[in-house]
Amino acid sequence: MSTYKEDVVLGHADEADGIDEYDNRLPRWWLGLFYGCVAWAGVYLVWFHVIEDTSQAKMYDEEVAAAEVQWPKPTAEQALAKAATPEAIAAGKVIYQSNCIGCHGPELKGGIGPDLTDGTWIHGGGLADINKTVSEGVPAKGMLAWGPILGPEKVAQVAAFVHSSGGGS
Ligand code: HEC
Repeated sequence: MSTYKEDVVLGHADEADGIDEYDNRLPRWWLGLFYGCVAWAGVYLVWFHVIEDTSQAKMYDEEVAAAEVQWPKPTAEQALAKAATPEAIAAGKVIYQSNCIGCHGPELKGGIGPDLTDGTWIHGGGLADINKTVSEGVPAKGMLAWGPILGPEKVAQVAAFVHSSGGGS
């Protein structure tokens, strides 16, 4: 048996800082909205996570992939070419003079190591090729791996210097 009566104050204002309360039935429009939202949450959950499988992580990955197509990362060659500024080449010359002259000669014309200006290359004359040869060396032939000794930045500089000295392709 319902003892429900409309607009009756529950009468505990003294416990609640003077705030009075009714216990009226919720309006139909409000209940409709509430159950509608509950139902929609279920639909949305199934649609978003199961049918479409659209997670934010997935959307992010897709955007990153699209961005990589639109703005491709520079190749190793392009990145090196960009770093090969006149200042870097000048710095590379100093590194060459203190590390490489002994085998490749002051004019890069060779000696123990090959001529680096004649346009003939054993390991390739592109900037990235030279960078790789200098970095990894040819230990079996007496060319040191300079990467661990000089570090990548100085290797790139000396490679830029060698590349710019006439023989580079
Ligand atoms: C101890 C002697 C020695 C020193 C020092 C040396 N090189 Fe070499 N380098 C060689 C030899 C020998 C080769 C040939 C390797 C081969 O036959 O594959 C070579 C090869 C190279 C090549 C590849 C040439 C080609 O035809 O593909 C490059 C570039 C090069 N050296 C750059 C350098 C640079 C830059 C330095 C200084 C950081 C350096 N080298 C120091 C001995 C040396």
